[in-house]
This record gives sequence, C-alpha cells and structure tokens, in this order.
Amino acid sequence: MDELFAVVTPGLESVAWNEMQELGLNPLTKESGGVLFQGDLKTIYWANLNLRTVSRILIRLGHFHASAFSELRKKAGRLPWENFINPGQPISLRATCHKSRLYHSDGVIERVVGAISDRLGSFSNHQKPKDIEDANLHQLIVVRLSNDECTISIDTSGDLLHRRGYRLATAKAPLRETLAASIILASGWNKNQPLLDPFCGSGTIPIEASLLALGLSPGQKRQFAFMLWPNYDKSLWDNLLNVIQSTHPHELPLIQASDRDAGAIEMARANAKRAGVSDFIEFECRAISAISPPPDPGFLITNPPYGLRVNSNKDLRNLYAQFGNVMRSHCKNWNTAILCSDPKLLAQIGLKLDTTLRFTNGGISVILGKGIVP
Ligand SMILES: C[S@@+](CC[C@H](N)C(=O)[O-])C[C@H]1O[C@@H](n2cnc3c(N)ncnc32)[C@H](O)[C@@H]1O
Repeated sequence: MDELFAVVTPGLESVAWNEMQELGLNPLTKESGGVLFQGDLKTIYWANLNLRTVSRILIRLGHFHASAFSELRKKAGRLPWENFINPGQPISLRATCHKSRLYHSDGVIERVVGAISDRLGSFSNHQKPKDIEDANLHQLIVVRLSNDECTISIDTSGDLLHRRGYRLATAKAPLRETLAASIILASGWNKNQPLLDPFCGSGTIPIEASLLALGLSPGQKRQFAFMLWPNYDKSLWDNLLNVIQSTHPHELPLIQASDRDAGAIEMARANAKRAGVSDFIEFECRAISAISPPPDPGFLITNPPYGLRVNSNKDLRNLYAQFGNVMRSHCKNWNTAILCSDPKLLAQIGLKLDTTLRFTNGGISVILGKGIVP
C-alpha cells in the first residue's frame, strides 16, 4: 500500500474528502491543501479517473531526516525510482525548503537528481518543461524540506486534473473545472432536480453538472503520468474503463445555461459538444433579467462577474440587486449557490446566505454563498 496525497485547492478539503468517500477511496487525514489516503495501483488509477474536485494525486515515496546534502543524496538514493522513471526519461523537480539546514532549493534538487541517476544507473535529466505537451513527457517529483525532515513525492497525474480535455474555448474569467465540480457538490444538488446557471460563460458549471449526473468519469479521455511508468498495467486501466462505461443513467433533469454574451454561449456549446453532453444542456443567449426557469424548484448554481477580473470598472451592485429580485420572482423555493469574491456584493442580493465555504479562484479569495430563495 502506498501513502497517497490528493492535492486540493485550500478551503475545499472537506468537499474532496466527501467525494473520496463516495468513490470508496477511504480518506485518512485532511491537511491544508489536500487529503491523505492509501492504496495500490488500482486505487491510483481509480482516483485519477474519477475524482472531480482534486488537482493532482501524489505518492509519498519517502520521508526521512536530512540535514546535510550527503545524507539527502544517500537516503533519496534508496527510494524505488525504477518503478516510476524510465532510464533517460526527462524529470522535473520542484523543491521547497522551510526552517531547514538545507535551505537552498536548487542544491536540494541537484542532490535528488544525483540520487536518481545513482539508482537508475543512467544520467537523469532535470529540465523545466517547455509547454504542457512537454510537461506530460516529464515525470514530476516534489521535494519538501521542513524542519530538516524531507518528504519526496512522485506525481501520478501529469497534467493538472482540471484539464479534462473539453474546454478549449474560454470566455471571460472561466472557472476551473475542479472548482465548478466542487461548488456543485458543495451545493447539495441531488442530480434529479433542475439546475440553472444564468451567468454560464464558457459553460463549466452546466458541463460539470451533466458529467456528474451522467456518471461520466472526468478522466476517461485523457493521459496520466502513470501511463509512462515502467510498471504501467494497461489491462487494469482498461478494466476500470469498462466498469465505468457500463453504468450510465439515460435520464437527466433539465440543465439550463444562459449568458448575455453571444460569444460565450457559442463557446459553451462547443465545449459541451467536446465533453459529449451538448444534448443534455439548454443553452440560451439572454441577460439575467430574461431567464425562464421551470416552475418546479431546482438549484441555481452560478459564478456571476466579481469585479476583480470581469467588469472591473463597473459598479456591480445593481447587477447583484437585480439578480436577487429575479431569483425572488422566478426561482421561489430554489436552492442557490453563488460564487463571489466580495461579501458586500453578495449582500446586495438580499438573501440569507451561508458563507462558510471559502477558497481561492485564480489567486482571488472567493466565498460560496448558499441559501434558499424565499
Ligand atoms: C465570471 S463569468 C462566468 C464564468 C463561467 N463560470 C465559466 O466557467 O466560464 C461571468 C459571466 O457573466 C456574464 N454576464 C455579465 N452580466 C450579465 C448579465 N446581466 N446577464 C447575464 N450574463 C451576464 C458575462 O458575460 C460572463 O460570461
């Protein structure tokens, strides 16, 4: 059994924890920025294939004391690098040093690269990847020194897990797919009631909701770092794909997505098509004032402009006040989950909202306001 770490946007650890439990992954401990769990190769493949809220999955390969470079190189050389790196494969290392005698991250990287070359019996080439495609050929290794204790982790995911492969077109201020999935899960949507996103931009929320309701695994069309490992078990991966492909519901609730920007709707449609869910989403180009939700209560889950990245020079207070009025007149008894950076803007909506879930989106602190429309 390996010790595994699911890297999560800080603030969303509980959401990831619940998702991991649903998937049978047995989370063990929450840390800031991730969740620890344990498992074998099958667990690693399954987690990468299915987790919607997690950024990447690391194996904690080694943990040891290191207060001198010679000690670091000797102990790092005992780790089973041959299970993860092919001789000659480029590697990319990231090191952080905190309150440790070894405080020079470049020096730490040099010794770990030396240890890997010793162990593999061939020179390992550490380079910064040129682009995303190049990064996918590198094996990422993460080294952390804290109080002279060194933790070395191997990445299993490759490209970050929010890159599902469908969102090639993006409108203004798109939400990461992992964050969209997180707010849908955190909203408590039960996958049977209608869902509406009236500020849908490039469509991330309705697309993630459709993938979730259809039970389509986010990782089934992409490549992962573990596929390049010398011990990659292709038949195990194919078996897992067969398991997930045999269980799809065919009925979905109404999922509506709208935006006042025609270009955004065009992009959202193209993204939904690539994700294979365009038949399940009603896209309309319309302003918030013109939304037309179904009469039965559902979930309004959305990410309106915040001001910092979109419409930065305009006063958004009127838009939020108007949004509140539209919800009260068209979405009575609906659940709502609204992502926003500014508590004052959320207050303009005029609804009682639970604002305990907070995290960052693209470096901006954000709040998920959850409530029921009276
Ligand atoms: C933060 S973006 C949404 C991003 C989206 N979640 C995504 O992942 O691409 C906000 C969106 O609100 C739209 N918008 C701004 N004012 C609007 C209004 N009055 N009615 C409808 N949409 C509006 C913008 O066109 C923009 O696409």
